[in-house]
Amino acid sequence: MTPIEKVIRKNDTNVNPIWIMRQAGRYLPEFREIRSKNNDFIKLCLNENLSSEITLQPLKRFNLDAAIIFSDILILPYGLGQKVKFEKNFGPKLDKLNLNEMVKVDEIDFIERVHRVYKAINKVSSNIILKEKNTIGFVGAPWTLLVYMINQQSPKKELKKDFFKDNFLINRILQIIEKFLKIHIKHQIDNGANIIQIFDSWAGLLNEKDLPNYIYTPTLNLVNYVKSLNIPVVCFPREIKNYKEFCEIVNPDVINIDYNVDPKEIVKNIKIPIQGGLDPKILLTDINNVKKETTRYLEIFKDHPYIFNLGHGVLPETNPEMVKNLVQTVKEYK
Ligand code: CP3
Repeated sequence: MTPIEKVIRKNDTNVNPIWIMRQAGRYLPEFREIRSKNNDFIKLCLNENLSSEITLQPLKRFNLDAAIIFSDILILPYGLGQKVKFEKNFGPKLDKLNLNEMVKVDEIDFIERVHRVYKAINKVSSNIILKEKNTIGFVGAPWTLLVYMINQQSPKKELKKDFFKDNFLINRILQIIEKFLKIHIKHQIDNGANIIQIFDSWAGLLNEKDLPNYIYTPTLNLVNYVKSLNIPVVCFPREIKNYKEFCEIVNPDVINIDYNVDPKEIVKNIKIPIQGGLDPKILLTDINNVKKETTRYLEIFKDHPYIFNLGHGVLPETNPEMVKNLVQTVKEYK
């Protein structure tokens, strides 16, 4: 059993596993080197030789307990035929969604477009460097994907007023998303992913009254699906106001918290294993502060099953030396 599996399956509090969201990314010069020669981000995700190499880059530098496959949550709309581009200093840009075209996409079309992600997972999970470590597959949660597919870009602080205006469209898209997320999850697992994380980056945009419809029910369906395949599932409903209620209803194997969550409060309120929390901006300060803040989280969670991670992705301007210090601090903690 890997250290992460000990935490999840045995509630072991004597191991201190760590991995980092966006651990393969722009803060690493070796990633920037590859990226500079590959302008099309989706194409890069779909080049299994390069994407598997990128996935393994952080594991060559740091003593991490898992690889997370280098891909993106927006590979799903891409697989459904909605074009996705990434512009520098802007983020993702999606073409307008065409429902009449999208309903025609079947499993074979989808797999044909995205299968090289599964090839990359296969390469990564069979690499010796991952002995006693996990390969994390992931998807965007239905809600967050819906936001991107309708809004066509990252929302600012709130949704546009007319976001919900076409109820029929929204419900049809949610059905399609759920169907293809299950397919996408299954293929990742069949190719070696042994943990699935569900990213709900825009969970914080919804009012309480909309949570059952857009978050609880669709996420619960996916969580139960992953559990039925006997693979642990981690949920990250970023900036949701009530993590406790989310856990009671959706009941994932692990809950990832964001950096606005008070760790001292959450450890009292939530029984299931917890992951993450540390503010990625801490890694922009100095080594002493990184050690201090990391140790603070480790102390708070010392008697709770805990997987160390950040409260959101590592920032591109982070010095890799800081990540090294973070990992060392976690690994040396007794
Ligand atoms: O190392 C890893 O964590 C694995 C790879 C990974 C990426 N995106 C690669 C990526 C993962 C797990 C994601 C998830 C993802 N993608 C989320 C959920 C987590 C979160 O950040 O809230 C979301 C919302 C997306 C959509 C997305 N992709 C955005 C908003 C952006 C632009 C912002 C940015 O960071 O540039 C991306 C691009 C993206 N995805 C990059 C990487 C490494 C940067 C691409 C580049 O090099 O230009």
